[in-house]
Amino acid sequence: LFPWAQVRLPTAIMPLHYELSLHPNLTTMTFKGSVTLSLQALQATWNIILHSTGHNISRVTFMSAVSSQEKQVEVLEYPFHEQIAIVAPEALLKGHNYTLKIEYSANISSSYYGFYGISYTDEHNEKKYFAATQFEPLAARSAFPCFDEPAFKATYTVKIIREENYTALSNMPKKSSVTMKDGLVQDEFFESVKMSTYLVAFIVGEMKNLSQDVNGTLVSIYSIPEKIGQVHHALETTVKLLEFFQNYFEIQYSLKKLDLVAIPDFEAGAMENWGLLTFREETLLYDNNTSSAADRKLVTKVIAHELAHQWFGNLVTMQWWNDLWLNEGLATFMEYFSLEKIFQKLSSYEDFLDARFKTMKKDSLNSSHPISSSVQSSEQIEEMFDALSYFKGASLLLMLKTYLGEDVFQRALVLYLQKHSYASIQSDDLWDSFNEVTNKTVDVKKMMKTWTLQKGFPLVTVQRKGKELLIQQERFFLNMKPEIQPSDASYLWHIPLSFVTEGRNYSKQQLVSFLDKKSDVINLTEEVQWIKVNTNMTGYYIVHYADDDWNALIKQLKINPYVLSDKDRANLINNIFELAGLGKVPLQKAFDLIGYLGNETHTAPITETLFQTGLIYNLLEKLGYMDLASRLVARVSKLLQSQIQQQNWTDDGSPSARELRSALLEFACVHNLENCSTTALKLFDEWVASNGTLSLPTDVMTAVFKVGARTESGWSFLLSKYISIGSEAEKNKILEALASSEDVRKLYWLMKTSLSGDTIRTQKLSFVIRTVGRHFPGHLLAWDFVKENWNKLVQKFHLGSYTIQSIVAGSTHLFSTKAHLSEVQAFFENQSEATFQLRCVQEALEVIQLNIQWMEKNLQTLTWWL
Ligand code: BES
Ligand code: ZN
Repeated sequence: LFPWAQVRLPTAIMPLHYELSLHPNLTTMTFKGSVTLSLQALQATWNIILHSTGHNISRVTFMSAVSSQEKQVEVLEYPFHEQIAIVAPEALLKGHNYTLKIEYSANISSSYYGFYGISYTDEHNEKKYFAATQFEPLAARSAFPCFDEPAFKATYTVKIIREENYTALSNMPKKSSVTMKDGLVQDEFFESVKMSTYLVAFIVGEMKNLSQDVNGTLVSIYSIPEKIGQVHHALETTVKLLEFFQNYFEIQYSLKKLDLVAIPDFEAGAMENWGLLTFREETLLYDNNTSSAADRKLVTKVIAHELAHQWFGNLVTMQWWNDLWLNEGLATFMEYFSLEKIFQKLSSYEDFLDARFKTMKKDSLNSSHPISSSVQSSEQIEEMFDALSYFKGASLLLMLKTYLGEDVFQRALVLYLQKHSYASIQSDDLWDSFNEVTNKTVDVKKMMKTWTLQKGFPLVTVQRKGKELLIQQERFFLNMKPEIQPSDASYLWHIPLSFVTEGRNYSKQQLVSFLDKKSDVINLTEEVQWIKVNTNMTGYYIVHYADDDWNALIKQLKINPYVLSDKDRANLINNIFELAGLGKVPLQKAFDLIGYLGNETHTAPITETLFQTGLIYNLLEKLGYMDLASRLVARVSKLLQSQIQQQNWTDDGSPSARELRSALLEFACVHNLENCSTTALKLFDEWVASNGTLSLPTDVMTAVFKVGARTESGWSFLLSKYISIGSEAEKNKILEALASSEDVRKLYWLMKTSLSGDTIRTQKLSFVIRTVGRHFPGHLLAWDFVKENWNKLVQKFHLGSYTIQSIVAGSTHLFSTKAHLSEVQAFFENQSEATFQLRCVQEALEVIQLNIQWMEKNLQTLTWWL
């Protein structure tokens, strides 16, 4: 009988050190392993309970420090909890140390999780093998028996046996390499620092690297040999970011080396394993000829994010997955913050702003959750990796930083890191550090708990009355149906408010205030012409104005939009469209507000407009209102006509201007405006004539390929290039074009082929499904494909994972009929209960309902207004 019934491990036994030896065979996809565990009993017990799954355990021996005699012992298994138990041959005494040695064999995983193997064909068409690890959150236990919870920190030494032509890497620098008599080589790595199991990593494959020393830390970028020419940008970027973080945190990076490895097939974007960061090729490699401004920014961002984790997450770790946001929110915040500080030209604030818009949309659903929420099952833990942990977490930190000031904010973070290095924490520990620095002049803990323990966010309504400003808060809740509206009245946030106004004498003023009740009155010192609340949208809330106040803002945008920052302008556009969705303002008012866009020079307000109107377009198109849809496009294109005409087909300009160009020309090409398709087709023909060797401007490449893919021969040529070229950046642009085809047979083939993994790697499948599902020809097909292959998808990407979330959302979010609602519901109900209860499933159902409601509410207005 298994002596332990809970999912969480008992705390009587603590691991201190793991000695791990692995011998993988990449062709048979199996490995042999042995782990020697040094343990300490914190309480007297007979049982040692730890995690292990999929292991064929051949021998377990036990030794106590006193007797130092090895005894073979039996092992019990409880697969349902992925646990094993060893009943010790003697009572384990409090404070004593013991050693356990487990020998086992197992399969190398063929999913992307655990110790997994992949194969790829190199430039000479030869089959190559590669193995890597992805342990977060719960897969270390499938590579070696261990105490697989983040709070059980221990040290590790790793040994790996490999063939001679391979390189083996692990978290720590290599200590020795010994060639054995069978010609194999055993690499041994130095003992690690104290860390959680999910951060352990090792990689075996053919690789090359480029390295540079940064004050005693050797930074290396690794890739498969043929891609070593694409690592320079990553190396340069990593060196700058490493120096920045060491300075900002006032704590040196802990290890003597830092490897960043581009893995040929990888599920997530990247992973922060201590000292051994793993990436997709597209998030680490940069190709001068084919990577666009957006690609360059992506690589920079992902490196910044994973580097920030070396402190937030690795050095200081959440005790349990309920506080995952401490890892991901802080890393995401630092990602944007560091880019603003040292790569200001990249204008990453635009991405952060956009992320806040998208996150708030998700957070306004009933299916949302507080960013700190209790979790137990593996699905629940996987589901914590969602936009809320990342971006609501980061947004709340931005709000706090703006409220407290940069200096106080930095001091609190440094204190937190220093105090909890090599230990594990909960949210309260972070707030305690803040309160220590503010001396409780501001009770940060009290304030922030209103944001981390409640789902959703406030809708702040303001109304000017002479010199007074009436403000009130309620929960911003997208679902208006009264029967679904929960007892929302109890929601209350502590909101740092900020305003920009212009007085009668045109003097601009910035004001701040604080709202911790339902409503309040603020005295402005004078009567103002207009007021914009939530300056630069650093606060995590939506603002609704009284009619006159909206009108004053709309008027001001028409007279001179530049008295407001581009963030404020984009914020107004976002807020008014969200409020229109809610029925708080008529849709016409939203269109009235964007009437000024002809004068808009910045990227964020334009991309937000394209996004909001694109959503409406997508719904209309899917319902077959083609006429309305094209009238909507005509409206928008007229608004943006001059900006579209100003674009040229080059890579000139700032990164932000270049991204605007991509967005506008793609919009124009997709909708056949302003001769864009003609120009694109000309470029495409030249590119084909050069057999794909001509350098196209990178920012417009996707637009060019999309137009090219419209013909049979263009599509086939793109596919042949997709198969033969070596730049992931270029391949992604081709793939997007291929998946935007109107030929459903081709779309089906693409999805099937990505699922099988040959020709198109399975890591691209969720992207393919989302792209196919976005456009009219493929949107039903994408959903059919997901239904048909659901079991395979779950096997490959596991239930609850970010990839599954993205596939479910991507294949259902544009449905807007009752028939589709019941169909999606019925499908998931017929799977397991765990599947139906997935948050992404509940979210999908809610989004379809909201689409239906949106149409009911706005279709008429659209019909007469357009
Ligand atoms: N820790 C995550 C990787 C991860 C994601 C592990 C999901 C387990 C489940 C890593 O730090 C991360 O956040 N990666 C991002 C990229 C980042 C730049 C937002 C990703 O994979 O998308
Ligand atoms: Zn992360």
